[in-house]
Amino acid sequence: MMKNESNSENLIRWFDPRSRKVGTWAFILNRITALGLTLYLFMHLIVLGNLARGPEAYDSFIAFAKNPVFIFGEMLVIAAGLIHGLNGIRIALNSFGVGVRYQKQLFLGLMLVAVAGIAVFARSMVFGGH
Ligand code: HEM
Repeated sequence: MMKNESNSENLIRWFDPRSRKVGTWAFILNRITALGLTLYLFMHLIVLGNLARGPEAYDSFIAFAKNPVFIFGEMLVIAAGLIHGLNGIRIALNSFGVGVRYQKQLFLGLMLVAVAGIAVFARSMVFGGH
């Protein structure tokens, strides 16, 4: 009984976002975006396979792609790509011993770049501007 209680307490603590360090957030973001991009890769291949069935399949996909839910999904892919890619560059640099002392600042700076990039993409996807 005692063992079960401490197990469930441990599980709850696992999902508790308080007092996590920046590095932990960076790891969590990297893993969530990595899983999201991998899921997207398979979905993308399935969609491409469907398009090859002919002009009707292509046209119906294009109609579906204009749906706001689809555009929101595309935004998530852009966000995941920017966050994972930019954070990935920091991880690669740090792995070679470059900028390790400033990894926190590097992470926060790169995430600001990611947010700016996401805003630029969102603007052109929603308003169609360049
Ligand atoms: C600009 C492009 C990318 C860069 C620079 C990049 C970089 C990295 C790095 C450095 C890691 C290792 C993280 C670590 O050891 O802590 C990683 C993990 C990973 N990446 Fe990427 N990546 C990129 C694009 C992608 C894409 C497009 C996908 C999926 C289609 C992907 C899927 C993954 C997966 C599944 C992991 C393992 C995550 C984990 O263990 O938590 N990455 N990436």
